Amino acid sequence: MESMRLDRCLANAGLGSRSEVRDLVKKGQVTISGQIVRDPGYRIQPEQTDVVCVKGQSILVRHQIHLMLHKPAGLVTALDDKHLPTIASLVPEQLWQRGLFPVGRLDRDTTGLLILTTDGTLGHRLASPHWEVWKKYELTVEGAAFTAVDPELFAHGLILPDGLHCQPAKLEIHTSHAASLTIHEGKFHQVKRMMLATGRTVTRLHRHSVGSLALDPGLAPGQWRELAPDEIQSLYQLVDLEPDKDR
Ligand code: URA
Repeated sequence: MESMRLDRCLANAGLGSRSEVRDLVKKGQVTISGQIVRDPGYRIQPEQTDVVCVKGQSILVRHQIHLMLHKPAGLVTALDDKHLPTIASLVPEQLWQRGLFPVGRLDRDTTGLLILTTDGTLGHRLASPHWEVWKKYELTVEGAAFTAVDPELFAHGLILPDGLHCQPAKLEIHTSHAASLTIHEGKFHQVKRMMLATGRTVTRLHRHSVGSLALDPGLAPGQWRELAPDEIQSLYQLVDLEPDKDR
């Protein structure tokens, strides 16, 4: 988990704007482990949780958490489901309690990269078609073999039988029945519907990457790890945010 600037931590805790909380710090009204800290840029380490006091009152330090999970098949992308097992069992309960949530959804039978974050703005932007974050899937199909005209068809933007106009997508053919497809939308069953519209049934679907972030090949299905600082930085950059600023 990353360290966080003191002024951001105070603003996150609802103690005022960045400039207001900076004043509090400079006036000597903030202590960490009982010591007055006058530097708003002081970095709070994750283990320092609950030792920050403002005017003698301890405050809750909320560090953002960002993970990548290798979603296995068989689990639904939800924290709770009446009938089916969910991804909730894969990550410790105390992390969910911190407000962690999955960015977008993968179908129950889809495997691969799922980003989990506590930052609502980041999660929303990464999933929203407005921000055009590319998601790359590896897939195998049954039915019509891929041919040289398919990449062009997908690049023009398919129109599905139900009238959905898909944004241009990038199809790279690996074999007659295997390809990768890169899209920047995430409508319900989108990849499967695009394949169905071109005479194919998806038999395996695996998300390889989201933007610049690829699934770590060292993670077995069901395993997760925290994102590294450079990975976090590049995700925020993709959607015009800064990890350590103003939110
Ligand atoms: N498209 C699908 O059809 N399913 C997924 O899980 C992800 C994208």
